[in-house]
Amino acid sequence: MTYETITVETDAQGSKGVTLITLNRPKALNALNSQVLDELIEAFAAYQSDASQLCAVLTGSGEKAFAAGADIKEMSEKEAADFYLDDFFAPWTSEIVKKTRKPWIAAVNGFALGGGCELAMMADFIIASENAKFGQPEINLGVAPGMGGSQRLTKAIGKSKAMEMCLTGRMMGAEEAERSNLVARVVPHDDLLADALKTAATIASKPPMAAIANKEMVNAAFETSLDQGLIVERRIFQILAASEDKAEGMAAFVEKREGKWKGR
Ligand code: CAA
Repeated sequence: MTYETITVETDAQGSKGVTLITLNRPKALNALNSQVLDELIEAFAAYQSDASQLCAVLTGSGEKAFAAGADIKEMSEKEAADFYLDDFFAPWTSEIVKKTRKPWIAAVNGFALGGGCELAMMADFIIASENAKFGQPEINLGVAPGMGGSQRLTKAIGKSKAMEMCLTGRMMGAEEAERSNLVARVVPHDDLLADALKTAATIASKPPMAAIANKEMVNAAFETSLDQGLIVERRIFQILAASEDKAEGMAAFVEKREGKWKGR
């Protein structure tokens, strides 16, 4: 597949098993239009189905933005019926979040506003540069978040802060985002990509099935009650106990050597 609005690199910059996906509309601050969505769906599906790729990183091109939101120019031409009948925004969750079972990281290099903040929050975790700025400014356009911002932001940082962000449309800097648990870590701007790729390479070096299982468990905590989540955790643990990688991982520990993973 040839992409026009994103770039995709497997085994990125020598990191074996790491796919780098870069939003590539820097002149529009990587605004998310329908073509970007279609290409991201393709890219994430290709990542998911390529057994050699074990962790992905999503970032934005240019110095200023991860993504400054859904494309306002595209949305300005649509009517309510178009949004409703097309179930606009639904594929971001149904096609990208739900179908990508392998881990992926958002490396936020600048503005992550509206749909950009929402896309970053779809990742398994966020690493932010010191220049990152998060926000849900949709209220300034007479609308509200549509790609999960009111839900994922509230679950990530709590009601009071999420409500303030949505109602004022203000931006949150990287330091506050880390303090509020929106991001896993903040790193110097120039180190962001290298740090994200290195983190992804660490994940890619782990037993692949266990990585998917760990992701599924943590997501269960995000999406279900404690009782249900604990059952999900125990069942997945019990399934992993039957895997070849469990036998290999425990043998490798006892024999004081590195494990060699089969991914099953
Ligand atoms: N959609 C389309 N184009 C956008 C865009 C967006 N979300 N954000 C920026 N751009 C374009 C600008 O129109 C401009 O294009 P032109 O050069 O052709 O005029 C270019 O990117 C550069 O932007 P600015 O000149 O505005 O750059 P700046 O540095 O002065 O300001 C900014 C940066 C504060 C991020 C500002 O661009 C901005 O406020 N952008 C919009 C942010 C926003 O409202 N996002 C939410 C969108 S709605 C949404 O996402 C709905 C949802 O929940 C899914």
